[in-house]
Amino acid sequence: MEATIVVACEYRTGAIGYNGNLHHTMRADTRHFAETTKGGVVIMGRKTWDSIPYHRRPLAGRFNVVLTRSGMMYESDKVAVCSSLEQVQDCLVNPRAEPYVSNGVFVIGGGDIYRLFLESRLVNAMIATVYVGAVVPEYDTTFPLDDVVERYGFHRTNTVDGTLGRFLDSDERFSAYVQEFHINHGL
Ligand SMILES: NC(=O)c1ccc[n+]([C@@H]2O[C@H](COP(=O)([O-])OP(=O)(O)OC[C@H]3O[C@@H](n4cnc5c(N)ncnc54)[C@H](OP(=O)(O)O)[C@@H]3O)[C@@H](O)[C@H]2O)c1
Repeated sequence: MEATIVVACEYRTGAIGYNGNLHHTMRADTRHFAETTKGGVVIMGRKTWDSIPYHRRPLAGRFNVVLTRSGMMYESDKVAVCSSLEQVQDCLVNPRAEPYVSNGVFVIGGGDIYRLFLESRLVNAMIATVYVGAVVPEYDTTFPLDDVVERYGFHRTNTVDGTLGRFLDSDERFSAYVQEFHINHGL
């Protein structure tokens, strides 16, 4: 399995969430997320699953995989519940998931699940929306992008768009840029 991390973090703090929700949302980023993950597999932690409004989950047109140790979740034809990375790998060769795998396997958070996959070496790419602008007063979950890039040896693949990446949109608080990365394990 080769997985792509999809994350949206604040530039300075790496904030991704507060109190079970995203630290910031922008309609253009929601669209970008939907287009990026369209038709693929989305892998998330149980807390991220809980943060998706009831009527929006499972995420439509994608095969949803939720990691939990508590066993308090139920499977359906579009949702697999796994208690370990090994189970995730097994479930992706299952006929229910197979049609989606060719459109990409995306790790969509939150903090625990990003860390789990980064340590596993199953991640070979990363698509980060970077929010630049306002001070983020409160956050409890982070994805320290620069540290992750350095620690795991990611290379930026869209540097032609400038240091901050491809401009996505801006609102009264932030400008959002997309940065893409790749990693070659074993090189
Ligand atoms: N900005 C972004 O891009 C982004 C993306 C996603 C989420 N978020 C935010 O991030 C926050 C949630 O992140 P989080 O780190 O608190 O939680 P999380 O990663 O979404 O989920 C954590 C849960 O996953 C399960 N889990 C963790 N490691 C596991 C393992 N090795 N095997 C099996 N299950 C495992 C456990 O579920 P059980 O407790 O059920 O056992 C754990 O409580 C929210 O604020 C959310 O809005 C931001």
